[in-house]
Amino acid sequence: MTGPLDEAAGLLRGAKRVVVLTGAGMSAESGVPTFRDAQSGWWARYDPEDLATERAFRRNPDRVFAWYVSRLHAVRRAEPHDGYHALVRLATLLEGVLTVVTQNVDGLHGRAGSRDVVELHGSLEAFRCIACRHPASADDIARLEDGATVIHPPACAKCGNFIRPGVVWFGETLPVDAMERAWRAARTADVALVVGTSSLVYPAAELPSLVAAGGGRIVEINPHETPLSCRADVYWPAAAGEALPALVAACGGSVAK
Ligand code: OAD
Ligand code: ZN
Repeated sequence: MTGPLDEAAGLLRGAKRVVVLTGAGMSAESGVPTFRDAQSGWWARYDPEDLATERAFRRNPDRVFAWYVSRLHAVRRAEPHDGYHALVRLATLLEGVLTVVTQNVDGLHGRAGSRDVVELHGSLEAFRCIACRHPASADDIARLEDGATVIHPPACAKCGNFIRPGVVWFGETLPVDAMERAWRAARTADVALVVGTSSLVYPAAELPSLVAAGGGRIVEINPHETPLSCRADVYWPAAAGEALPALVAACGGSVAK
């Protein structure tokens, strides 16, 4: 009898181009909170309208900036779990290309060693001026207090306006280069491996459809069903930190850290 592990491994073994789409659930086992988990998710406790829009930042810059500084500290303390290392290994096992497209802003894929990573929603390590886009150093910002609930954003060295986080807020468009890379990878992929995303936020949630439209297959790893699950060729109800190393083992590899 075959289960989702064998089915997923079978699809991956023959794949030349794989696009991995990850969301906050990928980082949950590294201790980074998700957004929509009913208990521990950010949006269970806060309204995104108060923290993740430009309007919120302009209305209450000190509170919004402090939230991003505390998240920067938290992700710097976090370590990529075995599922991240498994994706690095998977890229070397395949004959073709593996592109990781992530909605996460925590940088854990890159820190684990994945090479081809597209950060669709920006990065907590990127800061820039809200007016002239001049960059500011994340290391300088990380020297600001950890755990404060209000932190005044630094002023831009060029024009004096506020420095803002380099993440995509609700109502903003995604970085053009990231979108182009992600969409190009999806259109030509044989397999989309979708891990730890609620598949609710667009345009990222569109990517698996692009893969399917090009004749590729969809494998979803998520302990809870999502709007994608019924369309996935393989839905595997499992946690990323267990499923991905098992998948790599089934594809003939082991996970070295
Ligand atoms: P969500 O918080 O919406 O969804 C997280 C998903 O991860 C859920 O479907 C969980 O079931 C699943 N999950 C939880 N633990 C898991 C585990 N150990 N292994 C695998 N899956 C697990 O996060 P995203 O889909 O990433 O946007 O949210 C998309 C966007 O909405 C985010 O990028 C963010 C947010 O508002 C911006 O910041 C622009
Ligand atoms: Zn400026």
